[in-house]
Amino acid sequence: MAAHKTTLCLILLAACLAAATDGKLSPEYYSTTCPGAPAIVQAGVVAALKNETRMGASLLRLHFHDCFVNGCDASILLDDNATFVGEKTASPNNKSIRGYEVIDKIKGQVEKECPGVVSCADILALAARDSVVYLGGPSWEVSLGRRDSLNASKEAAEVSLPEPTFNLSDLAVNFWAQGLSFRDMVALSGAHTIGMARCTTFRDHIYNDSDIEPSFARSLQQFCPPRGHDDVLAPLDLRTPAQFDNSYYVNLVNYKGLLHSDQELFHGDSADPIVRNYADEPAVFLEDFAKGMIKMGEIKPLTGSAGEIRKFCGKVN
Ligand code: HEM
Ligand SMILES: *[C@@H]1O[C@H](CO)[C@@H](O)[C@H](O)[C@H]1NC(C)=O
Ligand SMILES: *[C@@H]1O[C@H](CO)[C@@H](O)[C@H](O)[C@H]1NC(C)=O
Ligand SMILES: *[C@@H]1O[C@H](CO)[C@@H](O)[C@H](O)[C@H]1NC(C)=O
Ligand SMILES: *[C@@H]1O[C@H](CO)[C@@H](O)[C@H](O)[C@H]1NC(C)=O
Ligand SMILES: *[C@@H]1O[C@H](CO)[C@@H](O)[C@H](O)[C@H]1NC(C)=O
Ligand SMILES: *[C@@H]1O[C@H](CO)[C@@H](O)[C@H](O)[C@H]1NC(C)=O
Repeated sequence: MAAHKTTLCLILLAACLAAATDGKLSPEYYSTTCPGAPAIVQAGVVAALKNETRMGASLLRLHFHDCFVNGCDASILLDDNATFVGEKTASPNNKSIRGYEVIDKIKGQVEKECPGVVSCADILALAARDSVVYLGGPSWEVSLGRRDSLNASKEAAEVSLPEPTFNLSDLAVNFWAQGLSFRDMVALSGAHTIGMARCTTFRDHIYNDSDIEPSFARSLQQFCPPRGHDDVLAPLDLRTPAQFDNSYYVNLVNYKGLLHSDQELFHGDSADPIVRNYADEPAVFLEDFAKGMIKMGEIKPLTGSAGEIRKFCGKVN
C-alpha cells in the first residue's frame, strides 16, 4: 500500500514536472524560483503610474503589440543595432509605442532578486494587468512561463498589427488570425478607454468621415489641422481619459469615437448590439475584457526550451 502510494506520487510528480515544461503557462510558474517577481512588477508599475498616469495605457498597448507579432515573446523590446532591425521602428510602433524604460527598470529589479529566471514577456503580461487594475479596471490571473524570443520581425509587425484605417471586416479578420473572436475584438478595443492618440492617426476620421458627431469633429479640428501638427495628442476617451471604464462604448453610441477604426464598431453594422450592451452594462464589458486579455496574453508563447530568458530586455543574451 505504502509502495503503491509512493509510486503514485512519483507518477504525479513526473506529470507535474512534465507539465511545467510542456508548453503550458501557469500562474504558479515562478512560485519556487522567484516568488517575489509579481510584487516587484506591480510596485514598478505603481511607481511609474504615480509619476505619469498615461504610462498605464502605454504599458497595456506594449503587451498588445508584443502579442500580435509572432506571439507574446517580448520581440517588440529588442533594440535595433548595426546588424539587426527589430520591431521598434515598424510603422505602428515608431514614435508611438512608449514604456520601454519602465520595463527595463522593472527587469533590472527582478534580475537583482532572481537573476536569469523571469522573462521579459512575462513582465509585459503582468505590467499590462497591473496597469489596468491601477486605473480602476478589472483584474485577472496572469499565467506565466513565456520565454523571450531570439529574434524579431519588422515586416511581421507591419503586417500583423491592426491600423486605424481598418473597417469592421478588416478588424474582424485581423483578430481572427490571432485566434481571437469577433466579441474578443470588440471587447479588447475597449482598451481605448485610456491613453492618447496622435493627430496623424485620427485626422482623416475628423475631416472625411460622416459617422462622427459634428461638434466633436469640430472641437478636434481646432488643434488637429488638415496638415501639420501630426504629433499633437487627443485622449482616446475624452470623458474619462485616465479611468478604465466602459465610457469608450458610451462615446461610440454617441458617434464620438476618436479613430476611424473605433467608430467602425458602431455605425449600423454587426458589432452594434455588443457595443450597446457594453455601454449599458459596464460589468459585462469588464468581464469580457479580462477574458480577452487572458486569451491575448496566451498567443503563441515560447515555452520549454524555446527562446531564452533575456538578461536585458533590449538585447538577446
Ligand atoms: C482594434 C484595433 C486597434 C487599432 C486599429 C488600434 C490603433 C491604435 C492607434 C492608432 C493608437 C494611437 C497611437 C498613436 O497615436 O501613436 C492606439 C493607442 C492605444 N491603443 Fe490601440 N488599437 C487597436 C486595438 C487595441 C488593443 C486590442 C489594445 C489593448 C488591449 C489597445 C490599446 C491601446 C492603448 C492603451 C492606446 C493608448 C496608448 C498610449 O497612450 O500610450 N489598442 N491604438
Ligand atoms: C515621469 O514622467 C515624465 C513625463 O510626465 C517623464 O518625462 C519622466 O521621465 C518620468 N520620470 C520617471 C522617474 O519615470
Ligand atoms: C522613425 O521615426 C524617426 C523619428 O523619430 C524617423 O527619423 C525615422 O525615419 C522613422 N523610422 C522609420 C523606419 O520609419
Ligand atoms: C531573424 O529574422 C529575420 C527575418 O525573419 C531572418 O532573416 C533572420 O535570419 C533571423 N535571424 C536569426 C538569427 O534567426
Ligand atoms: C473593408 O476594407 C477592405 C480593404 O481593406 C475592402 O476590401 C472591403 O471591401 C471593405 N469592406 C467593407 C464592408 O467596406
Ligand atoms: C480627405 O479626403 C480627400 C478626398 O479624398 C483627400 O484629398 C484628403 O487628403 C483626405 N484627408 C483630409 C485630412 O482631408
Ligand atoms: C544586435 O542585436 C541583436 C538582437 O538583440 C543581437 O543578437 C546582436 O548581438 C546585436 N549586435 C551588437 C553588435 O550588439
